Amino acid sequence: MLRLGRESNLTLLEAIRARHSVRRYIQRPIEVSKLDILRDEIIALNATSGLDIQLVTDEPRAFDGSTAFSYGKFSGVENYIVMAGPRDSRAELQVGLYGEQLVLLAQTLGLNSCWVGLTYKKIPGAFRLREGDIVHCVIALGYGETQGVQHKLRPLEKLYEADVVPPDWFISAMEAVQLAPSAINQQKYIFLLHRESLVEALPRFSLVGYTEIDIGIAMCHFEIGAGDAHYKWV
Ligand SMILES: Cc1cc2nc3c(=O)[nH]c(=O)nc-3n(C[C@H](O)[C@H](O)[C@H](O)COP(=O)(O)O)c2cc1C
Repeated sequence: MLRLGRESNLTLLEAIRARHSVRRYIQRPIEVSKLDILRDEIIALNATSGLDIQLVTDEPRAFDGSTAFSYGKFSGVENYIVMAGPRDSRAELQVGLYGEQLVLLAQTLGLNSCWVGLTYKKIPGAFRLREGDIVHCVIALGYGETQGVQHKLRPLEKLYEADVVPPDWFISAMEAVQLAPSAINQQKYIFLLHRESLVEALPRFSLVGYTEIDIGIAMCHFEIGAGDAHYKWV
């Protein structure tokens, strides 16, 4: 479903491995050709999801450093994706699923990114919300000072339970889930493998929230990691 940037040789699996949250960006504008690729993908994703994802460019104020939260300090952010949509848990799952596709597309284009739930400000006029929609999250985008660092990996066995001996495709899928970004790296979910290749992703209790978005992100990684295996979501 994803269109890969011509400038990049990264496959989506390589993008999953290369991606880390980046919070400090250099002052290098994103090329128009790359913004066009992202915009085209956003139009396609909005059409299938019913979300109202928007790309905001050349807007430095959302991350100018004076947020009320100490978690996650950002610098140099001038471009970001607004993940807007209806206020319900189905939309939250879709925000994760479709937002992560954009994150990985950006990675294949040589860009860095970071999901942001808290540490940004909503700037009046930078984007418009449809009646009833909310901003679930934003995604900072640009050229990072560094490529970021690998988050602490949760053991695979803590991320899944299986009714059958897990086949290779399921382990590959879970290895991709292991690398998925999540709010404060909580990964408060469990993937269940049932008989007949039925797969279920369930939330665990979280004080922080964002679990539905985290599950959507993890499902995106699962689907890429599973490749062309035949399985069904419960
Ligand atoms: C839904 C969501 C919300 C997040 N919110 C913030 C945030 O407000 N501030 C921040 O600095 N990082 C935020 N992050 C980034 C996470 O801290 C990061 O994904 C996690 O620590 C794992 O690290 P990695 O992305 O480098 O693998 C968020 C991530 C997700 C998925």
